[in-house]
Amino acid sequence: MKFSHEWIEKNPWLLLVMVVLVVSVGGLVEIVPLFFQKSTTEPVAGLKPYSALQLAGRDVYVREGCYNCHSQMIRPFRAETERYGHYSVAGEFVYDRPFQWGSKRTGPDLARVGGRYSDEWHRVHLNNPRDVVPESNMPGYPWLATAKLNPLEGASKMRALKKLGHPYTEEEIGQAAQTLADKTEQDALIAYLQGMGTQIKAKR
Ligand code: HEC
Repeated sequence: MKFSHEWIEKNPWLLLVMVVLVVSVGGLVEIVPLFFQKSTTEPVAGLKPYSALQLAGRDVYVREGCYNCHSQMIRPFRAETERYGHYSVAGEFVYDRPFQWGSKRTGPDLARVGGRYSDEWHRVHLNNPRDVVPESNMPGYPWLATAKLNPLEGASKMRALKKLGHPYTEEEIGQAAQTLADKTEQDALIAYLQGMGTQIKAKR
């Protein structure tokens, strides 16, 4: 039988196998090199792994589903860079496990929100966004202000991440419990927000 495209198209299983083959080769060619490129695997200058407090804040961010309304990924388009600052680069996310890029923007992108507002602004905003942005439809998160962190969780999170290659020193891990003592979930979330995207200067 002549090997023709028609023959492939008339054999759905064969077609399926061929499609999977083509897609996998295409995928591998695009994805595999990224694991070995410096620009995607090395942290940008000045990037540090999250502190114990920021790690706790990141977990609050995930638990509360902030990513349902906020992305952390500035695309390299003029409309984005004019509004948010330098576009996001892969090296900024090497310590994000899992990354919080998101894909839904009911609210603004947060990739460079660090340092844009004072801690106090964030406190008011998180308790009730309408106190600072009257037209906001972001929900308030007032309970974060009174919910205390569990100081014992910090060290174990850092140990787990250290196994994955995050450069924590034993000293930093040892101090985790002390830095988390008496801190609230709101303190942690604000520490996380204030660190966002600060290695590459936001122009705004
Ligand atoms: C229902 C969608 C929604 C959710 C969920 C949400 N936000 Fe927002 N957020 C918004 C909107 C809309 C704005 C813009 C208005 C404003 O500033 O309140 C905003 C603004 C912000 C800003 C100010 C950004 C800037 O550049 O001005 C921060 C910071 C923020 N949100 C953090 C959070 C955090 C942290 C959480 C989770 C605890 C969260 N948001 C959950 C919708 C949301």
